[in-house]
Amino acid sequence: MKEKLQSLLLQAKNEIISAKALKELEELRIKYLGKKGEVTLVLKNMKDLSQEERPLVGKIANEIREQIETLLESVTEDKKKLEVENQLEKESIDVTMPSKGTVRGHKHPINVALDEAIEIFLGMGFKIAEGPEVETVYHNFDALNAPIDHPSRSLSDTFYITEDLLLRTQTSPIQVRTMKSQKPPIKIIAPGRCFRNDEIDATHSPMFHQIEGLVIDKNITMADLKGTLDMFAKRLFGSQTKTKFRPHYFPFTEPSGEVDVSCFKCGGEGCRFCKGSGWIEILGCGMVHPNVLEECGIDSKEYNGFAFGMGLDRVTMLKYEIDDIRVLFENDIRFIKQF
Ligand code: DAH
Repeated sequence: MKEKLQSLLLQAKNEIISAKALKELEELRIKYLGKKGEVTLVLKNMKDLSQEERPLVGKIANEIREQIETLLESVTEDKKKLEVENQLEKESIDVTMPSKGTVRGHKHPINVALDEAIEIFLGMGFKIAEGPEVETVYHNFDALNAPIDHPSRSLSDTFYITEDLLLRTQTSPIQVRTMKSQKPPIKIIAPGRCFRNDEIDATHSPMFHQIEGLVIDKNITMADLKGTLDMFAKRLFGSQTKTKFRPHYFPFTEPSGEVDVSCFKCGGEGCRFCKGSGWIEILGCGMVHPNVLEECGIDSKEYNGFAFGMGLDRVTMLKYEIDDIRVLFENDIRFIKQF
């Protein structure tokens, strides 16, 4: 019996040591120490032994049981550790591996052109002013000296919200707000969204962008206006750019003009871009009408000034040779991504 128990221990030790997985160890525990396990059976059969043998065999059997238990525990512990280590090894992240790269957003082309324009005007000493997109009829038309029958006032051209409120059709109301709230000298640009009830086509959008400019001081002349805008055009489109001032009519300026820049694509010879004329219109401008100054509380005998309003979408399209305004606002990622 004693030998049988010894060889049982040896066999158990061998099997435990060579077990490969935790599951196998559990099976071995059941095999030797379980309810029907081999060591358990020996203990159960003790009753068949003689009185003298019983305590001796019982002691050995218990010792063997303990030894097997201890060995099982320590091997199980080792195996568990090893399994965790293997797992960690498998799941470890190689921080030196090159990344897949992230897609970075960037400015919309209109904002690129706007920021460039702002930079040029800030360099000339202008400050930035802002105004609301929902405007009063007073700021958008009346205070700007627009005759009561001016076509732009009509319901078919302007988005009215109520009789007195509308979506501003131009950035010019910002001039009025600035003159009413600041004392001259004034030197501001005012970029912003404008709205007109236009049919959408390649050159028209019911929502578009303008940059307004206003300078009010003593003894301002047309030469200041021309110099400022000529300098701006050269900075934005290149030093070879020429400007042309054509007479025009705006209710809020007198005299008024429109400014064309020489086509930077063909240099003025005429191409598809400038529709063969060699010139491209970019803005309206003029000397601020005395009626507007007086309406805004500025003494027109002491002060005068110039103003201009530029189509920013137009400028962006020229800069990037975009021939359809719609692509600027459809936000098709394939288009936007190119800038
Ligand atoms: N507001 C004009 C427009 O939308 C543009 C303009 C012309 C603005 C002359 C001015 C200006 O300030 O003096 O067509």
